[in-house]
Amino acid sequence: MPEAIVTRDLRRVYDDREAVRGLSLEIAEGEIFGLLGPNGAGKTTTLSMLSTRIRPTSGDAWVFGRHVVQDVHAARRLLNVAPQEEALYPTLTARENLAFFASLYGVPRRERASRISRALEAIALQTRADDRVATFSGGMRRRLNLGCALVSNPKVILLDEPTVGVDPQSRAHVFEAVRGLKAEGITILYTTHYLAEAEDLCDRIAIMDEGRVIALGTLAELLRGSAAEEMIELRLASEPRPKLDLTTLPGVVRVENQGHVLRLFARRAEPVLARLMETGALGADIVQVRVTPVSLETIFIELTGKELRD
Ligand SMILES: Nc1ncnc2c1ncn2[C@@H]1O[C@H](COP(=O)(O)OP(=O)(O)O)[C@@H](O)[C@H]1O
Ligand SMILES: [Mg+2]
Repeated sequence: MPEAIVTRDLRRVYDDREAVRGLSLEIAEGEIFGLLGPNGAGKTTTLSMLSTRIRPTSGDAWVFGRHVVQDVHAARRLLNVAPQEEALYPTLTARENLAFFASLYGVPRRERASRISRALEAIALQTRADDRVATFSGGMRRRLNLGCALVSNPKVILLDEPTVGVDPQSRAHVFEAVRGLKAEGITILYTTHYLAEAEDLCDRIAIMDEGRVIALGTLAELLRGSAAEEMIELRLASEPRPKLDLTTLPGVVRVENQGHVLRLFARRAEPVLARLMETGALGADIVQVRVTPVSLETIFIELTGKELRD
């Protein structure tokens, strides 16, 4: 299968800050590839390099074999981005916004009307096409933002957190549009900090944190890759003062402590809990216990030590 996007050791430094620290990815044609990470992980910077908006500090990236720096015009023709910050004219209608972008992208005049109506259909905004954007809900504006990227007829589309702050109905419309694009063979790189979106929508997921990809695979592969099968979350009355090394408990592969919350990643929760109860090894009273099977959420915590929340 041809690779739609390849990056090799891609880096970007801002002043003294490394936003992206050596990213090597291969995204196949027709995939919905999810880039999942918290704010500041480097998702937007990655997309900006791929869409040729900013230059990599070092490393390479190709879109269907076209280098994003050396062959910038060819790369631009193949790929487009629906940016995190909406670029729409509120006083114009949806159709007028799409027409503006069509002329910006140099779409031949005779093709504009059909491109615009296809974009409107893909984002399910046909009935509102001639209303001003100022009257649109947040979710409708996010969809139109995607539509504006579609008029250039890209083979690869980059969606930067397209569902932030939208209502559930609009989110469903965005998902429908993304699945429709996939059905047409378009490759989608989708960034999000919502775990459920990565789980539901993406064929493969790269977990990104502090400028690096720290895990990559299908959801099933990520789940299998975890040494733990259960996460034990203990809410304590005070900060734990363990009387023994908790990683020596049977089957425990990782321990994470945040204030009064202690998380143990284990093959099986039950023997670990039994030992904790009988020995009082935590040095703190347990207020609440929650045992969860591994999921993308627990894997994220296991790998980063952080929770992925809004
Ligand atoms: N134009 C910029 N100048 C300086 N630092 C930046 C700039 N853009 C992003 N950064 C920094 O780079 C890091 C990654 O940011 P970004 O790519 O926007 O992450 P994400 O999209 O995952 O939230 C952050 O620490 C951010 O503050
Ligand atoms: Mg971002």
